[in-house]
Amino acid sequence: MKKVLFVASECVPFIKTGGLADVVGSLPKYIDKDRYDVRVMVPKYKVIPDEFKQQMVYVTHFYMELSWRNQYVGILEMEYAGVTFYFIDNEFYFSGPSPYGYIHEDIEKFAFFSKAVLSSLPVIDFRPDIIHCHDWQTGLIPVYLNVMFQGNPFFRGIKTIMTIHNLKFQGIYDKKTIMDTTGIPAMYFTPDKLEAYGDANYLKGGIVYADYVTTVSNTYAEEIKMPFYGERLDGLMRARSNRLSGIVNGIDYSEYDPEHDPLIKYPYSSKNFRREKCKNKKALQKELGLDVNEKTFMIGLVSRLTDQKGLDLVDYVIEQICAEDTQLVVLGTGERRYENLFRHFAWKYGNRVSANIFYSNERSHRIYASCDAFLMPSLFEPCGLSQLMSLRYGTVPIVRETGGLKDTVEPYNEYESTGTGFSFANYNAHEMLDTIRYAKHIYYNKKREWNKLIDRGMAKDFSWNNSARRYEELYDRM
Ligand code: GLC
Repeated sequence: MKKVLFVASECVPFIKTGGLADVVGSLPKYIDKDRYDVRVMVPKYKVIPDEFKQQMVYVTHFYMELSWRNQYVGILEMEYAGVTFYFIDNEFYFSGPSPYGYIHEDIEKFAFFSKAVLSSLPVIDFRPDIIHCHDWQTGLIPVYLNVMFQGNPFFRGIKTIMTIHNLKFQGIYDKKTIMDTTGIPAMYFTPDKLEAYGDANYLKGGIVYADYVTTVSNTYAEEIKMPFYGERLDGLMRARSNRLSGIVNGIDYSEYDPEHDPLIKYPYSSKNFRREKCKNKKALQKELGLDVNEKTFMIGLVSRLTDQKGLDLVDYVIEQICAEDTQLVVLGTGERRYENLFRHFAWKYGNRVSANIFYSNERSHRIYASCDAFLMPSLFEPCGLSQLMSLRYGTVPIVRETGGLKDTVEPYNEYESTGTGFSFANYNAHEMLDTIRYAKHIYYNKKREWNKLIDRGMAKDFSWNNSARRYEELYDRM
């Protein structure tokens, strides 16, 4: 039995700011329980809902040195959906209104967390064969393991995997502060180790010291070896390319299931979507105060409202997107300029644009179930999960060909009648607009073709079944 420990800064259903939480919350459930003992460690944030905090059981606590500080480390445990979760407790670090705040605080918070994770293992007597780290917040784990824990026989031979969900976020701060915060000796702050461009860089440390590096799609694994997507670490990515590969994410097919989704009004399947799906559209139109008409082409956009998601393209041509024969439904929060952009157009075209500037899981399910198309014109996209949810709900994705979007959405070919969505290559607003108009043309004028697109999309399998096997193969190889 191989033991694997997942470590991350967020995890569904306890705490979520983005797709990372979905992956960390669902992948462990799909790893074969007969062959692997997978457990998960996350911070015990104050903002975790009470219903979960009440179920956590206190295990033990100790004090840990973090450079010149001496800090409390509490450990709590909880069984959820067949997986053991550990929560690292420290009220000084984890009491904020959200998991992340000011970078100078986060830098210390996650140095503490990373060292606390390693320090906890002998205390709870769980010696993983593999520690599977996710994103910059856990980048110091492979570093600490090498620098400070190797001397202890308990830790000898533990392997590490660093999974990059988004290379844009690296955990960068000035070297002096990081040396002081982490207690890691000065000799490790060189360009072949923790230093990048004069600063200290947590994710770089993780990539350098991990035994293996993965990212969340094949295309993104290739893209980040080039300057455009490499976020100034493309050289390192090329250097590590024999220990770097992509494994595309899945989604939780029990949670995202149009046939048995308690959050939508009219459940449907790949057999009866032609009749049933539009009932959800009408219900959503009513709920959002849009014109009620099951024929109107409805585009969904559920996203963090940030530059990464290609929203400046939408900004350029939003007037043309919001044509009279189209409805646009937006859900999410993020940069002020995009929040206000959508608010403005919802005000201007109240009968056909709906701006939901907040996050609601329930509403997201209804949007996936109700819309005809789903827009995701990302500048870069390590994997992307919403396009997978859309495919599952028979909502046709319109995407830019980058990262996971390229790997999971097959472009429609009118002549061969293949493909599951619409896509465009260049980061260009009018290319996007043309693609949206082309999709709309097929929807309005070639309805049978459109429905066949849905058939093919719903027939695809983006459950974890495939990708969990790939992770298992990787665990075995190590
Ligand atoms: C990040 C990426 C997204 C990916 C998710 C889960 O949020 O931006 O593309 O799907 O992580 O891996």
